[in-house]
Amino acid sequence: MPSLRYLRAVPYWTFTQANSLKERLEDGDNQPSGGYTWDGRYNTPADQAAFPLLNPDEMANSSADDVAQKLSKSAYAQQFRQAFGQDIFSRPAQALVDLGKVLQAFQFNDSSFAPYSSKFDRVLDGRDHFTPQEAHGLVLFSDPDKGNCASCHLINKGAHGAHPALTDYNFQTLGVPRNTEIPANRDPNFFDMGLCGPLRQDEAKQQKWFCGMFRTPTLRNVATRRVFFHNGMYHTLEVSLRFYVERDTNPEKWYSKDAHGHVVKFDDLPKNLRSNVDTKTEPLTNHLGGKPVWSDSDIRDVMAFLDTLTDADAKTVPR
Ligand code: HEC
Repeated sequence: MPSLRYLRAVPYWTFTQANSLKERLEDGDNQPSGGYTWDGRYNTPADQAAFPLLNPDEMANSSADDVAQKLSKSAYAQQFRQAFGQDIFSRPAQALVDLGKVLQAFQFNDSSFAPYSSKFDRVLDGRDHFTPQEAHGLVLFSDPDKGNCASCHLINKGAHGAHPALTDYNFQTLGVPRNTEIPANRDPNFFDMGLCGPLRQDEAKQQKWFCGMFRTPTLRNVATRRVFFHNGMYHTLEVSLRFYVERDTNPEKWYSKDAHGHVVKFDDLPKNLRSNVDTKTEPLTNHLGGKPVWSDSDIRDVMAFLDTLTDADAKTVPR
């Protein structure tokens, strides 16, 4: 389950222009960016709130009416009436919209959603030091010839010294393998392709290169998580990092095989869209059978660095 922390900085869904020649050559202009959820289909948490409330796989309320009924029996029903009108519960569609506003105000205004209390933040402010292992992990994380992680998971301070979000809010097709534990994936013709649907509909038809794109998540508090990537494919940070460094060197370790025993690289995309995965630039591309750019001890060092992104009140998963 993705954290709700640090989401107040997510920009509206938009298309960005490259800000350097290098970026223009590598990525081109009009790159999709921003928006809430993995496919950026909501501009604000207020817009987003109705989806989990009504989604059968999440909170599974059957309708706005159902939500309004429950709200009307809640401990804060009276406060809700005071804020939005005594008759609000007899206007369920509006009650759902107002509930979105309330949830957004909470997420935006309560400082616990963005404490910036990690060791990484203290180091940025000059109030702490990385251990040699953490410092080496940061070097590997940032090195364009090694991980190049920081090209998407940004680590530099922004305007007025704002602490970085560990994401650029842009979209990428990483080719994360198909998760066979997801019931919808029992249908071999079903593909969750992020920006081009099936959940997100508005960009689906005209933009084939959008298929497979998901928004870069923040890596703040990443070491506290037990489920990684848009389809929850991996359950440890270590395996998630190993996927990055071995995706292209050892695809047989990561992807399924077809009836002839051939590895189906990028098996969570339909055949004709697999070339959408960027294998020419970052992240961590390397030739088949080559040596992964990180050794086991490098991976441990990067994990030590990622541990420093854990907020003071959050707990890193024990390893
Ligand atoms: C080209 C941009 C890009 C680069 C470079 C990149 N990432 Fe990512 N990262 C993403 C995107 C996009 C996702 C989500 C992909 C998905 O779920 O399909 C992601 C997801 C992750 C996740 C899962 C986080 C979660 O909450 O589920 C981890 C961990 C991660 N990246 C670490 C790294 C590391 C370590 C590197 C360097 C080796 C790296 N990333 C390089 C774009 C990038």
